[in-house]
Amino acid sequence: MRIISSVREMQQATDNFRRAGKLIGVVPTMGYLHEGHLSLIHLARRHADVVITTIFVNPTQFAPNEDFTKYPRDIERDTALAESAGTDILFTPSTDEMYPREYRTYVVVEQITKMLEGQFRPTHFRGVTTIVTKLFNITKPHVAVFGQKDAQQVVVIKQMVKDLNFDLEIIVAPIVREQDGLALSSRNVYLSESERKQSIVLSSALRRAEEYVHRGEKTPSRIIGEMKKMITAQPSARVDYISIADPASLEDVSAIPHHGSVLISLAVRFGQTRLIDNMLVYIP
Ligand code: PAF
Repeated sequence: MRIISSVREMQQATDNFRRAGKLIGVVPTMGYLHEGHLSLIHLARRHADVVITTIFVNPTQFAPNEDFTKYPRDIERDTALAESAGTDILFTPSTDEMYPREYRTYVVVEQITKMLEGQFRPTHFRGVTTIVTKLFNITKPHVAVFGQKDAQQVVVIKQMVKDLNFDLEIIVAPIVREQDGLALSSRNVYLSESERKQSIVLSSALRRAEEYVHRGEKTPSRIIGEMKKMITAQPSARVDYISIADPASLEDVSAIPHHGSVLISLAVRFGQTRLIDNMLVYIP
């Protein structure tokens, strides 16, 4: 595995691969890799000849009151994990390399960035779409792999790819969970022992919601009410939102449709740690 930290060197490497007719896959990450990230790298391997994993904790997607400085980092461990999962090139730029002093340009996707996460993190997606655009221009991939765990991020990035005519395909990998149901996230390390136990409620509440939908419940507020009851029974849990939305528009549905799918998503804080999770529920 080759490690590159300069933009210019990365662009030269990817140009050479393209000239040699290789299919390039990129897996953008913020590091502190876990099984969820490794599943993205494995998926990229199946779709590409050359897999580039990027590690960059992107300051522009964190608000000043968020966890940018304390976001977990372990580049040595990440390097070993990325290599063992099948990465060919690990791209690890510095902040100065990505955002030099005279940096001025941001990419904004309208509307779908304002709901759900956007209500609580109004500048978050502007940072995500900006860095992902930069990473696409630097790694020039044919395919890019993202995790369904960040469901809204996937919708936003797909919209950006379509609107800005990026010539690449977005591939989405399913959520990877711990045995007890907690969705893997680099932020799980922040949880105290007690918060970690309580956090199991998120996947249980999503499964309960799915049962309601499959049993024919059509009123979203009844399902959300039941989920809220389950979650707030945990002493540390504070709900930011629970939503049952159309998976494409992310607009809350007024009724569960008779056919199709809904995206049930939530954000809940346990102490200082904010967790998100979701489930795409199909109605046959
Ligand atoms: O999902 C993430 O880890 C980040 O939002 C991403 C896509 C790597 C951009 O910094």
